[in-house]
Amino acid sequence: MRALQFTTYGGPEVLTWADAPDPHAGPGQIRIAVRAASVNPIDWKVLSGAMSGGQPQAGTGYLGYDAAGVVDEVGEGVEGVSVGDDVLGRGSATQAELAVLDAWAAKPSSVNWAVAGSVGVAGETAERGLRLLGVEPGDTVFIDGGAGGVGAATIQLAVARGAKVVASSSQANHDYLREIGAIPVLYGEGVGDRVLAAAGGPVDAVFDVAGKTPVEDLVALAPEPSQVVTIANFNAAEAGARVTGGADDSRPMEALALVADLLAQNKLVITVQTFPFERAAEAYRISKDGHVRGKLVLVP
Ligand SMILES: NC(=O)c1ccc[n+]([C@@H]2O[C@H](COP(=O)([O-])OP(=O)(O)OC[C@H]3O[C@@H](n4cnc5c(N)ncnc54)[C@H](OP(=O)(O)O)[C@@H]3O)[C@@H](O)[C@H]2O)c1
Repeated sequence: MRALQFTTYGGPEVLTWADAPDPHAGPGQIRIAVRAASVNPIDWKVLSGAMSGGQPQAGTGYLGYDAAGVVDEVGEGVEGVSVGDDVLGRGSATQAELAVLDAWAAKPSSVNWAVAGSVGVAGETAERGLRLLGVEPGDTVFIDGGAGGVGAATIQLAVARGAKVVASSSQANHDYLREIGAIPVLYGEGVGDRVLAAAGGPVDAVFDVAGKTPVEDLVALAPEPSQVVTIANFNAAEAGARVTGGADDSRPMEALALVADLLAQNKLVITVQTFPFERAAEAYRISKDGHVRGKLVLVP
């Protein structure tokens, strides 16, 4: 098979689409023939070496943490899914012709492959953030960074729960935020006052997706510091906010089932821009620039 790969850390220019050994489904896993795999910021962070703890790249590195495709191998102990089923999910080295998933849900037949391939990481992260914050019907939640993959999914999952959502983005994305159910505010200095004005007072929960606003400003909006959850500011615990990286607090199978259900009902709508695998570097460059609307997706 072929897979996106690199042998030295660097920017998108070090990526190649080339032959790679076939992966196999271990216990509790499935393998899919990939029809779409999304680009997440973690991909270019790993590619850059930022996650390597200062060690040089050893051997060949592979990328991708979510995908959709057709099941072609079922690992030991896995039930409820068979060869030939269409699924979406989360895994590793998914930007390849064949990929192993650790968590998945059936792909609704009405949902196209690119959209299905875009929601593994963003959808699971959105579900996790809202669950940790305990967002309930009637609550008001502020999502700082609403226009990207995680933000757009979180807005729509929160609206589906019956919450009122205020979300930040650049001015260019305000119509997009309205379209997916949020009251938009401009990010940057003074964002706290704009949130209070838009929400009509303090909010019940803050989900920091972008990690750019000083955590003190976010804590000031919430009833207590722990009602600020961040996925992108790893110093936020100093101010009493909660940081989640998605290990023990992740419920990926449950999250993906919810996401697939909302996709099937058109309560979750993802804007996707697609690229053939051979042009992955273009998608990585756009992701790295930090102003993605919706999701970037690689397709065969
Ligand atoms: N800890 C975890 O479990 C976890 C899981 C998933 C992702 N993440 C991290 O979460 C971050 C977001 O991921 P993503 O997939 O949503 O990224 P993405 O799709 O690339 O979205 C980036 C978004 O950030 C917005 N943005 C840029 N500057 C901002 C600012 N100052 N304030 C608020 N928003 C701003 C952009 O909006 P405009 O285009 O309008 O500027 C853009 O829509 C990344 O750092 C990623 O690595 C962490």
